[in-house]
Amino acid sequence: MTEFESLGIVGSGIMGSGIAETAIDSGHEVVILARTPQSAQSVLRSVQASLSKRVEKGHKASSQTEEDLSRLSVTTEIADLSNCDLVIETVVEDISVKSRIINDLDVVCKPSTVLASNTSTIPLIELAAKTKRPEKVCGIHFFNPAPVMKLVEIVRTLVVSDETIQRARRFALECGKEPVEVSDRAGFIVNALLFPYLNNAIKMLEMNVASKEGIDTAMRGGCGFPMGPFALLDLVGLDTALAILNSLHEEFGDPNYSPAPLLKRMVAAKMLGRKSRAGFYSYEN
Ligand code: CAA
Repeated sequence: MTEFESLGIVGSGIMGSGIAETAIDSGHEVVILARTPQSAQSVLRSVQASLSKRVEKGHKASSQTEEDLSRLSVTTEIADLSNCDLVIETVVEDISVKSRIINDLDVVCKPSTVLASNTSTIPLIELAAKTKRPEKVCGIHFFNPAPVMKLVEIVRTLVVSDETIQRARRFALECGKEPVEVSDRAGFIVNALLFPYLNNAIKMLEMNVASKEGIDTAMRGGCGFPMGPFALLDLVGLDTALAILNSLHEEFGDPNYSPAPLLKRMVAAKMLGRKSRAGFYSYEN
């Protein structure tokens, strides 16, 4: 028995697919809600590909992969999430889109369903207020790549119940993660500390202090970080980085959060990082 027998994930992007992989790997039944049949098939393929890579590396038996995949399904109908015990939304970092989805989930899902958001910066209380079950709404924030990164931030609003928070913690532990509780402030712990650093790296590049390769090498070698700031920005997605900085700036008004002009221009140019195959670096696939 797992804390939440069946899990719904809304969104078929990097985070949706990574969280789905993590959850099926730890024995949960998962259904992913995608916007189109094409994106539904594509998220299925990306989970399959990631699991196959683990088999190739000898970390997983292929029979185990088949068993994991038998716990995963995809849909384009929100009604297919109605019986889930927990639903995590992982859609674009836009409050109007997330509000609409959380409201639709509140209408469709059974009364006991816990509704969670993987948002990095949007106030959870604003999403909770869109439902008739604010005590069952919290943040469950995974990090990219979700199957690898150990941390899950569990976000407590002013009105969420202790039971919901405890259940979210137990779910994260079942997924093999290390949950840390944090209150409902933009950026929570990690992004509030990480994004000024990433933003300042871009500003340093704009000032021609060093090349992007030089800055990345310096932060890996000098601080022991697994990736330098530009490689990490490309992994996170420059559109996501811009949305996070804008939310932090709006919440705290600190100029340190004001997005570097180059970041804004790159997003306007649709240079979004790995997902568009071009960001600070170029990617073959
Ligand atoms: N899915 C599944 N497994 C993956 C993976 C993915 N997308 N990416 C990497 N892995 C696995 C690899 O298979 C490998 O597993 P084994 O060691 O068991 O073989 C392991 O992770 C290490 O990967 P690699 O050997 O390919 O490369 P690496 O050692 O350079 O690690 C990395 C890659 C894990 C991404 C590492 O560079 C890293 O930890 N980077 C920092 C990532 C980070 O800071 N993430 C947080 C971003 S902020 C965020 O997510 C918050 C937000 O709200 C935006």
